[in-house]
Amino acid sequence: MNAPLPNDLSAFWIPFTANRSFKADPRMLASAKDMHFQTPEGRRILDGTAGLWCVNAGHCRPRIVEAIQKQAAILDFAPTFNLAHPLAFELATRVADLMPEGLDHVFFTNSGSESVETALKIALAYQRARGKGHKTRLIGRERGYHGVNFGGISVGGLPKNRMYFNNQLAQVDHLPHTHDLARNAFSSGQPEHGAELADALERLVGLHDASTIAAVIVEPMAGSTGVLPPPKGYLERLRALCDKHDILLIFDEVITGFGRLGAPFAAERFGVTPDLICMAKGITNATVPMGAVGASSQIYQTILDGADAPIELFHGYTYSGHPLACAAALATLDTYEEEGLFERARELEPYFAQAVHSLRDARHVIDIRNIGLAAAVELAPRPGAPTVRAMEVFHKAFDRGLLLRCTGDILAMSPPLIVSKGQIDEIVDGLRKAIDSTD
Ligand SMILES: Cc1ncc(COP(=O)(O)O)c(C=O)c1O
Repeated sequence: MNAPLPNDLSAFWIPFTANRSFKADPRMLASAKDMHFQTPEGRRILDGTAGLWCVNAGHCRPRIVEAIQKQAAILDFAPTFNLAHPLAFELATRVADLMPEGLDHVFFTNSGSESVETALKIALAYQRARGKGHKTRLIGRERGYHGVNFGGISVGGLPKNRMYFNNQLAQVDHLPHTHDLARNAFSSGQPEHGAELADALERLVGLHDASTIAAVIVEPMAGSTGVLPPPKGYLERLRALCDKHDILLIFDEVITGFGRLGAPFAAERFGVTPDLICMAKGITNATVPMGAVGASSQIYQTILDGADAPIELFHGYTYSGHPLACAAALATLDTYEEEGLFERARELEPYFAQAVHSLRDARHVIDIRNIGLAAAVELAPRPGAPTVRAMEVFHKAFDRGLLLRCTGDILAMSPPLIVSKGQIDEIVDGLRKAIDSTD
């Protein structure tokens, strides 16, 4: 389908994009189906990144499209403040069924960033409700990405996302990141070294005292900063230390939720259960914006029992549990289940791993890592011009019909879970050609 190009590109302030260079040489998408986007000129682009780590079932899946169309004509909107509609309850139950045992309650948001803010606020409300209102400190991690709102950038660990907006939450500290090229380069799956990095929490407890710390938030696998699977034993150690010091553990599963690691959530893949889970993206296959926070019964019940007002949690969004998002999410979960997509991701993992690690001998490559259907190829930075090389590779791949994600000097891949082995080969071959032609 050929679509007309807009005449005026000036008004749209494009997020996380170099607006000046993009508008001089735009890359437009006009339509999508299954594993491919199509440009306005009719070029097919193989989606090696599931959009932005979110289109886990592939694009424009009929069941999801129909559900949204139908719902738009039945109930376009319903407030969920003092009112509700049946789909929100149905979806909450379905999501709860996917979460690890003990996480039984779901608070709806509209994005990953909102899920993070919501989880942090629930953590504070929980501590207060149990008479521990002095536990207010939040611990994040270097290289963590938790969205773009003030709570998220405060606990997040991406310098550029923080430095321009320096008025952040007080009382935040950070664990060290787990990226260790010297010891773990070219790991497949969870790297061997680094479990002891979780012990930095002991140091922070020593510094601030556990009586001031409400929660620790980490991505079980850091995604946006370049696919950093947790070292073996790391998450287990973090869980044990949080238990020891009476600190909540929040997993930000905005990327890892809904099958990316071959299980409904990374919590199940790694056998470590947090107290709160942030999710978004794959919950609706990215068709309608939606996020959610999964909470343990302990947290939910404590906040309800400890309430000093009829409304137990003073928090919510106009669009929390939006009917279109609920309909899209229910159809998405049906699609995942019927097509066994989480299991499919797990089955394809060894093939995907072998394919991406075949790039080890490509130019500039200093590390390759993978887990589930997520992988990253890290390039040596061009001297004096960090990040430029990977950006050039990204552009070249796109020109050849392949969408990758680039972050720093890293190229990330996270295809929809319907990807075929042939398409995995195509992605890896496209990346190799793009790297080979880049100085
Ligand atoms: C781990 C994590 N948390 C939060 C977010 C923010 O989600 P959103 O862009 O939907 O606000 C992202 C987005 O990539 C993410 O990867």
